[in-house]
Order: sequence, then structure tokens, then C-alpha cells
Amino acid sequence: MSSQGTAFQTWMAEIQDRTEIALGNFLPDAATSPSRLHQAMRYGVLGGGKRVRPLLVHAAGEIVGANADALDTAACAVELIHAYSLVHDDMPCMDDDVLRRGKPTVHVQFDEATALLAGDALQTLAFQVLARPALLADPARQVGMLALLAQASGSRGMAGGQAIDLESVGRQLDRSELEHMHIHKTGALIRASVLLGAQCGSPLDEARMGALDHYGKLVGLLFQVVDDILDADADTATLGKTAGKDAANNKPTYVSLLGLADARRLAEELLQEALGTLDNLDNSDRLAALARFIVHRSF
Ligand code: IPE
Ligand code: IPE
Ligand code: MG
Ligand code: MG
Ligand code: MG
Repeated sequence: MSSQGTAFQTWMAEIQDRTEIALGNFLPDAATSPSRLHQAMRYGVLGGGKRVRPLLVHAAGEIVGANADALDTAACAVELIHAYSLVHDDMPCMDDDVLRRGKPTVHVQFDEATALLAGDALQTLAFQVLARPALLADPARQVGMLALLAQASGSRGMAGGQAIDLESVGRQLDRSELEHMHIHKTGALIRASVLLGAQCGSPLDEARMGALDHYGKLVGLLFQVVDDILDADADTATLGKTAGKDAANNKPTYVSLLGLADARRLAEELLQEALGTLDNLDNSDRLAALARFIVHRSF
């Protein structure tokens, strides 16, 4: 691996470690009552996951010279929303999955009602974390971040995308319908991660903020295109979740629409487009490396 590649790996590991510690501190102690709920929340969040959204928060923060403590907080808020979305996504009423991050899913390890409540409580914890007093010197900016995360998580973001996903079972969506679904169910939180990181430092001018937003939108779509590819092409042990689940559940995906080879080609095209958005942004090397990682990851 090149020295640049090694430096990126080291940086990723460092952010993943500090995110794990910060999440562990924000989550209620497992011994605190109601203990079973708190155990389930910790189980659903800690000890796994690539932490791509926190990595994006930190990488975007580098562009604006953000304070690391504020970035950790924003990163945890978005990761808590993501973890909640996975807990609910795996439940029998949604994708009905038994394996996540190499472990039994939360409803399997605990029970369905506990999984439902753990997801609910992780969602509200995310906003409690982001509402932390004096996160930023400018409280109006912090309120803006709360609104941004709420919009990205709700019916016009992730939850809305999940509703479209469920409505689409057994149907073949066309390219624009599929893009719409993916941009919402997965893209919204990825895009929000980039924007939240960018809010934690010196304000960016409109052109640079626009470029960053465009990057986030493309990488968000790209992330789910690659998730579709891996579901069809990787094995369960590597993924840490059940392979082949989209076909088994009759989900429309980029693989069912285009086939594997063309889905891969599209991912490479989207990657090039995403890298192009960074051309005029100083200190965006890590965002570029993250986009490459998202396409070339094995799980
Ligand atoms: C999986 O997300 C669900 C999608 C939104 C595609 P990740 O692939 O980021 O899952 P973890 O957090 O690394 O387990
Ligand atoms: C998940 O999409 C999107 C979420 C909001 C969780 P998938 O259903 O494809 O995610 P995996 O493959 O189960 O991780
Ligand atoms: Mg799903
Ligand atoms: Mg799923
Ligand atoms: Mg998937």
C-alpha cells in the first residue's frame, strides 16, 4: 500500500476508535434502569460498523478547520440515527434480518418490543447529543444542525426512503424511481453527515458549500448502489449480514435493474463525478479517499 494509503487507514482507525469511545460515553450505562433497554441500545451501536458517517463528518470538518470535540458530537448524533435505522430495518416487519455486523440482530438477541424501543430511544438520544449546550459558539448554527439532521432522518429523508423501499417490494422501479428511493433511504444521512461536519468550523462561501453538498448527494447515492452490489456479490461472512437478501426479499436494486457489471460501472462513474466536485475545495483529500473507500470496500 502507498504511504498515502497507509496514512488514510491510520486516520480511519483513529476516527473509528474515538467515535466508539464517544458513543460509549453518550449512551446510558447498561446497568442503569431500564437495564434491558439500555443493554439493547448499546448492543445496537457499539462494537461494529464501519462508521462511514462519522468519518464523513470529520473529513468535511477538515475543510473548515473544525473543532474536533464538536465533530465528535455531530458524528455521534448521525451514527446514533444510523444505528437506530439499522435496528428497525432488520425487524420482521421490515427486512426481517437475523444478522447484523456479524452478530444476531437486536430483535433476535433481545425481542421485538425491545428492538422497537431501542430504535426509538437511539433516535431521540441523537438529538439530545446534538443539542448539547454550547456545542458551537453560535447557537443559531447549532439549531440549524438540529433541523438538518431532523430533515434528513424523517419522512422527507431516511424514514421516507424506507417507506418507499417497503412499498416497492415485488416491483421493478425504473432508474429515476430507484435513484429517488436510494437518495432518501441512505443518501439523506450521508449527505447530512458531510453538511454537519462543514457546519462545525469557519463558514464556507456558497460555491464551496454547494460543491460539498453535491459531493454528499453523489456519495450518498453511491453508497447504496455499492450496498446493492455487495448484497448480490459478497458472502455473508464478509458482509456480517445475510448475503442475497435483496433478491430473497424481492427488492428492486441497482443490480436487479442493471445487472452486476453495469451497476459496477455506474458506481465508478458516480465516483468520478463525486471526486470532480472536490476540485476547488482545499483540504478535501480525505473526502476523496472516503469516496474511493466507499466504492472499493468489501463489506
Ligand atoms: C448499511 O450501512 C445500511 C445502509 C444504509 C446501506 P453501513 O454499510 O454503513 O453499515 P455499518 O454501519 O457499517 O454496519
Ligand atoms: C438500509 O438499506 C437503509 C437504511 C435506512 C437502514 P438496506 O436494507 O439495503 O440495508 P442493509 O443491506 O440491510 O444494511
Ligand atoms: Mg432495508
Ligand atoms: Mg436491510
Ligand atoms: Mg442492503
